[in-house]
Amino acid sequence: MRTVYLNGEYIPDTEAKVSIFDRGFLFADAIYEVTLVLDGKLIDFPNHMQRLKRSARELQFPFVPDVDQLLEVHRELIRRNGLVDGQIYIQITRGNALDRDFAFPPADTPGTILMFTQVRTAALDQAMKSGKAVVTMADLRWQRSDIKTVQLLYSSIAKMEAGRKRADDAWLVRDGLITEGTNNNAFIVTKDGRLVTRPLSTDILHGITRKAVLDCAKEMGLEFVERTFSVEEARQAKEAFSTSATTIVAAVTSIDGVVIGDGKPGPVGAKLREIYLRKGLDAAIG
Ligand code: PDD
Repeated sequence: MRTVYLNGEYIPDTEAKVSIFDRGFLFADAIYEVTLVLDGKLIDFPNHMQRLKRSARELQFPFVPDVDQLLEVHRELIRRNGLVDGQIYIQITRGNALDRDFAFPPADTPGTILMFTQVRTAALDQAMKSGKAVVTMADLRWQRSDIKTVQLLYSSIAKMEAGRKRADDAWLVRDGLITEGTNNNAFIVTKDGRLVTRPLSTDILHGITRKAVLDCAKEMGLEFVERTFSVEEARQAKEAFSTSATTIVAAVTSIDGVVIGDGKPGPVGAKLREIYLRKGLDAAIG
């Protein structure tokens, strides 16, 4: 049984209850973050919290998350659950409006804060290292994909559709150009060895791992460019991979059934994964 956090209390997961009037439940009026935990330490925590604050601002939440307090809760959950490798999920909603109303509740309505841990399995790491098959699919999400909200139904549907096509994930497409994966950012390595990923805009989540991986590329002296790329260019890439806090750097070995490179995880992704893990652990918060 897990100990989870809900509005100031540490309680067993089966006892954590939220009101039916909570706006997170009725309107997906909630923001979230997922922070990687390795060796009991938080990876890239300050950047996740910075993005959480940005999401709160963008949705005009009347309160700002207190990062120092949230760090203490993250630490306490790791401790109470004996978490070694895994992740911590945090969700903050606009709170319980005591009824259903499209208008926001009064500004003094407290938000709902919940957090829980998830354990990482060795099988996940292995799958990510050995490569994923992705299929491309229309990006039908709302046009503020830069805000990390719990409005994830389309991503979930796309993931299921990918599964029906015997693939592991979907890469989403707007105007013939890849935006990102269902829950990760998309990268390719072109034939001439350049790393390419879509530039930041409202079309994609500003991935924390994406940024860290670009920093690693800089350190490696690897040429990279932030620009859009088409489905066709991705299918012809020398190498492809995705990034996220949960999958870290995950090789993509086929796109729409077209084998990428030699069909095996490529060296650029593998090297970036290695450097990211080393740097991430060096800077991790215990
Ligand atoms: N998802 N793009 C989308 C749409 C995402 O949902 C995520 C993360 C990313 C990668 O962001 P980061 O590197 O900061 O994790 C990109 C999390 C892991 C999730 O929903 O579980």
